[in-house]
Amino acid sequence: MKEHIHIFDTTLRDGEQCPGAAMTVEQKIQVAMQLEALGVDVIEAGFPVISDGDFHAVRTVAERTEKSRVCGLARCVEKDIIAAHEALKAAGDRERIHLVVATSPIHRKYKLEKSRGQIREMAVKAVAMASGLCGEVQFSAEDASRTEPEFLAEMVEAVIDAGAAVVNIPDTVGYTMPEEYYRLISYLKSNVPNVSRARLSVHCHDDMGMAVANSLAAIRAGAQQVEGTINGIGERAGNTALEEVVMALHSRPDFFSGAGTGIRTKELVRTSRMVAAMSGLPVSRSKAVVGANAFAHGSGIHQDGVLKNRSTYEIMDPEEIGWGATELPLTKHSGRHAVKMRLDALGFSVPDTDMPRLFELFKQRGDQCKFVYDDDLAAMVNTIHA
Ligand code: KIV
Ligand code: ZN
Repeated sequence: MKEHIHIFDTTLRDGEQCPGAAMTVEQKIQVAMQLEALGVDVIEAGFPVISDGDFHAVRTVAERTEKSRVCGLARCVEKDIIAAHEALKAAGDRERIHLVVATSPIHRKYKLEKSRGQIREMAVKAVAMASGLCGEVQFSAEDASRTEPEFLAEMVEAVIDAGAAVVNIPDTVGYTMPEEYYRLISYLKSNVPNVSRARLSVHCHDDMGMAVANSLAAIRAGAQQVEGTINGIGERAGNTALEEVVMALHSRPDFFSGAGTGIRTKELVRTSRMVAAMSGLPVSRSKAVVGANAFAHGSGIHQDGVLKNRSTYEIMDPEEIGWGATELPLTKHSGRHAVKMRLDALGFSVPDTDMPRLFELFKQRGDQCKFVYDDDLAAMVNTIHA
């Protein structure tokens, strides 16, 4: 059977931690409804204990959604767990409490001032408590990629024994590299005796631009859940851009042994636009998959190739992602073939004998501005017919 990679969306929690991206409760609900339409397996709706607004948002998302699991973050302390459960209980059997405690030596020493044993005990107690309240508990070992692998393996084993159904191995500070993260996930897969009783999850940050590559390497090593955000928004340089992971799996089944997701890819562009509008964080034009230029071919050679056969320069079908048909913006780089196609589409039948003159006018116009628009073409047709 092909592996189903669970998509855990944290746009409303880690994504919202991006300075300036805070959303109102109503905006969060709209995004959550769209995430459900997109088909994400889990929506992390917030961190209920941190504010009344977050509590209310998580509760409303739990009430209004129907299919996706709804998750709330909690530290391994009683008051967080109670707040998370209170906010989430309207989700019924879709409730997931997400517990987190840091495990790396740096965090143990400077942030928590606790020993390995104390941290393990906190985690186990918290997982046991949360398991008594809800059907599914996820545990995250914050800064896992900078944690001693043997201690990390001990932690993973202990929380699975305590009842965690999902164990997340975050690269909290975007420190790891694809090969190294691959080795870490492989190590846990072969050194944690009870690992098959839980799902391993990965959560990467993009501080060195590696979040998507690291997540994909982890999938190859056997991770079964990927966490990330739409448009890759999030703390500092952001999180794994989910649309990129989804389309990589979709486009390269040969490389990922057919592992796939339940995402309705045609909803990706709509979701990206909604998140950009609600978070106030615009998407770069050249962003992979959902950037405005992701399928806009500029050079004459490329335009000519695409017009002959799209597979020459397109590895994904833009319509499958929710874009309209391929865009061929006309610029000074465009060739005769693209100009002729656009003229035909506009209903101008320019005889072949007039094309050299029209193309000369086209290049002159292209040298003066970034794009040559349909109105410019119409003016050129008038000029040569005058
Ligand atoms: O980056 C991180 O470690 C987190 C955890 C809460 C999973 O966001
Ligand atoms: Zn994070």
